[in-house]
Amino acid sequence: MAEREFSESTDRIVATEPVEVRRYATHTRINHWFTAALIILLILSGFALFWPRLFFLTALFGGGQNARYIHPILGVAACLSFLLLFLQLWRLNLMRREDVVWASKITDLLAGHEERLPELGKYNLGQKFVFWGMFWLLLTMVVSGIMIWQQFFPDLVSIPVRRWAVLVHAISAVLSVLVLIVHVYAAIWTRGTLSAMTSGKVTGGWAWKHHRKWLREVARRQDKPPAE
Ligand code: HEM
Repeated sequence: MAEREFSESTDRIVATEPVEVRRYATHTRINHWFTAALIILLILSGFALFWPRLFFLTALFGGGQNARYIHPILGVAACLSFLLLFLQLWRLNLMRREDVVWASKITDLLAGHEERLPELGKYNLGQKFVFWGMFWLLLTMVVSGIMIWQQFFPDLVSIPVRRWAVLVHAISAVLSVLVLIVHVYAAIWTRGTLSAMTSGKVTGGWAWKHHRKWLREVARRQDKPPAE
């Protein structure tokens, strides 16, 4: 909504639009939510097979056999979808010198003194940690998952190797759920972040407060005169 300012001396009312900054293109948001939906289905079907007490979750997929059949297919689809997201975002998630300084002052952030931390690009170290965590865990899960996908790859690995693959698959699945919880918690905890992935925009204040270096880059790009 436009903010209005009344000037007594001139009787003029001036309306100004609050600053909004575009953070994600539509295709990136669709890619993100599609990946998220696949991963949630993957978690539900995987946990249904992982622990007998959660077997009732197989009802969501039409029973045990269907859940067993669809789980690896969902896994491959989720990895391919994440790969598209990864290709768009990996450069922005590379570590930078300011990330180290930022991490050394994390107590200031928790105490609500974000202004004492260095200016950041598009992502902070926590977001980068989640990004690379998801990447390595999904890679581990798809590789170990194919090793134990007996329906299509019955003789790919020996039985002892397959046993290790089952263990690695289960541990990385539990870790990836923890990483996902951190991701969702951070998205909700940092007020104004969710709109980045829903409307694709954040407020100027959010960008100034949390990712000032990125905001400066966006502003610089917009200031550039169009090419002749
Ligand atoms: C299901 C609940 C989820 C919610 C509420 C959620 C929310 C968000 C939000 C708000 C952002 C924007 C953060 C920002 O730009 O500062 C974001 C970014 C992102 N999300 Fe999610 N997300 C969810 C699930 C997932 C899943 C399942 C994955 C992938 C496995 C994922 C991967 C990503 C990635 C890669 C980014 C870009 C951040 C980066 O590159 O570091 N998200 N998410």
